[in-house]
Amino acid sequence: MTNAHERALKRSLDDPEGFWGEVAEGIDWVKPWERVLDSSNPPFYRWFAGAECNTCYNAVDRHVNNGRGDQAALIYDSPMTGGTVKTYTYTQLRDEVAAFAGVLKGLGVAKGDRVILYMPMVPEAAIAMLAVARLGAVHSVVFGGFAANELATRIDDAKPKVMVSASCGLEPGRTIEYKPLLDKAIDLSTHKPEHCVIVQRPEVQAVLNAPRDVDWAQAMAAATPADCVTVKATDPLYILYTSGTTGQPKGIVRDNGGHMVALNYTMKAIYDVEPGDVYWAASDVGWVVGHSYIVYGPLLHGCTTIMYEGKPVGTPDAGAFWRVISQHKVKVMFTAPTAFRAIKRDDPDAKLLSQYDMSHFKTLFLAGERTDPATLEWAQMHLGVPVIDHWWQTETGWSIAANCLGLHAYPVKPGSPTKAAPGWDVRVLADDGHEVKRGDIGSICCKLPLPPASLPTLWNADTRFKQAYLEEFPGYYKTGDAGYMDDEGYVFVMARTDDIINVAGHRLSTGAMEEVLSAHPDVAECAVIGVADDLKGQLPLGFLVLKAGAMRDPADVVKDVVKMVRERIGPVAAFKSATVVRRLPKTRSGKILRGTMQKIADSEAFKTPATIDDPAILDEIKIALQGVGYARAAG
Ligand code: COA
Ligand code: AMP
Repeated sequence: MTNAHERALKRSLDDPEGFWGEVAEGIDWVKPWERVLDSSNPPFYRWFAGAECNTCYNAVDRHVNNGRGDQAALIYDSPMTGGTVKTYTYTQLRDEVAAFAGVLKGLGVAKGDRVILYMPMVPEAAIAMLAVARLGAVHSVVFGGFAANELATRIDDAKPKVMVSASCGLEPGRTIEYKPLLDKAIDLSTHKPEHCVIVQRPEVQAVLNAPRDVDWAQAMAAATPADCVTVKATDPLYILYTSGTTGQPKGIVRDNGGHMVALNYTMKAIYDVEPGDVYWAASDVGWVVGHSYIVYGPLLHGCTTIMYEGKPVGTPDAGAFWRVISQHKVKVMFTAPTAFRAIKRDDPDAKLLSQYDMSHFKTLFLAGERTDPATLEWAQMHLGVPVIDHWWQTETGWSIAANCLGLHAYPVKPGSPTKAAPGWDVRVLADDGHEVKRGDIGSICCKLPLPPASLPTLWNADTRFKQAYLEEFPGYYKTGDAGYMDDEGYVFVMARTDDIINVAGHRLSTGAMEEVLSAHPDVAECAVIGVADDLKGQLPLGFLVLKAGAMRDPADVVKDVVKMVRERIGPVAAFKSATVVRRLPKTRSGKILRGTMQKIADSEAFKTPATIDDPAILDEIKIALQGVGYARAAG
């Protein structure tokens, strides 16, 4: 006997064209495809080649046309602004989106042009994304916690015609003025956008410099609504930059057709929600979770989505999530485990839960980092609903492995995101490319072609796409995660194989931080590692070797580099700690032993590598780590 998940997985791998061709019937097409899967130019596979469509039409207009016009499409809930709640029906959302598309069109934005959004969690962010999609243009959302320098890198790569931003973002205890950051980024970048549309929030009035800067509200008042522009299914919908191994982020490309098909499918197959249900992803539109599950997935499926401008704790307390769930009758929620660790820290017995009616709440989904068993058990015990860990990446756009509740609910194994989702041929490979035995750790890879919505390439960087993901294991996509699969096909994701670290569910490159540290005039050499943290999962920690003759007090150099990372990468890097050492531990061939340093910091058992050039240095590293609060345990 097989279950619906096994049948879907098998069919999706044996007959991908048949499987996804049927799934694609859930989308309205302007013109059907010639091929479900175009494999004529491997490793560049294209889904729904020849088809024509519009993503905004499918996410918004068609629901109005099909009788959902009065249903809530988007609820903006902002404890950061004293409890604002604003609901947009599908009809209202369509009208706002069409009007803003008219604004953009008036500023010269046409099919294929790029528009960068640097936005806080306000409804205008989703409206702008959908408006760009409506015109067949390409959006690139940059998370508000990134600094001007990071924004400038993305401006130079994406070359936007227009940018959309707001006067400010709101963080607990702090208002972040976005306009000076935007202006600085444009100063730093070589490419100059023609216009910036700014949402003036009541908290801060930004200084606008006409004719480049345009006031959102004034432009909307004068706008002529724009219609949906037909694009090819294979045309890009968006670029989302994510951390790579260097300071140059990777521009993940998402297409229109495959993205719609896969995301719409996941809403039922994975999350088990129906059109009309309320679905809430507590993330940020700057991350892939925000793209896929605040904006596109729920709207494509005709659900009500929530944009929450707040935190799990402190806005005002650790009952914030329960308040939103009960007030808006949320059926399914998605967030990162770190958010639940924060709630558990502030309200260990979940006492605040008793104040809220949680009767509509059916499932909690967690992703962004591994769900540690303690957090899983705490959430299960207090919420009394299934808690589902699922594993995915910016690159894939949706789950590689999940407990697909709309197909078949498997028993949960703590520490595992369950099994490969339909479309994903997951294999664990040894360094030589052979599959390892079940239970053995290796590189987790996915056999090509990847299913719809996964990245077709990197923006203007086909060669980097091949080098980064496809060359090491020919015929496979390398996820960059290491782990194993058990006898029943449960996947266990254990660690990254590269220098990416995961801080509060945010993906960061230690390589990028090292580039900043090395730029300090007194730093001769440096390393950044991710150390274990009870709340955020990992935190970055820097090691600095100062130049001979450096005159400054080492403590001041540490302060400088902390400031530099905040200024150049952004507060989201959460880089707050570094230590000065005499030398870095290295192999005889000069490779820095970051893994060994991390094990010492986390008080884990380790073997002194046989190739180390000077074993005595490890004792010095341990003492330095103890000086900054790590490597405390005996041994
Ligand atoms: N704009 C500007 N700054 C931002 C920002 C934004 N959009 N988002 C975060 N920051 C800042 C924070 O204010 C903080 O600054 P600080 O150093 O001055 O305190 C810094 O970036 C680090 O932020 P974060 O790592 O999020 O830590 P935090 O202490 O503010 O909050 C959590 C910790 C766990 C509450 C928070 O990370 C959280 O809610 N995470 C779960 C949900 C999530 O976002 N997941 C992402 C992918 S699903
Ligand atoms: P991002 O691209 O920011 O979504 O980060 C993707 C990375 O986060 C993955 O490659 C993993 O390293 C990690 N990750 C995301 N979800 C999970 C999960 N459920 N379990 C383990 N790691 C995860």
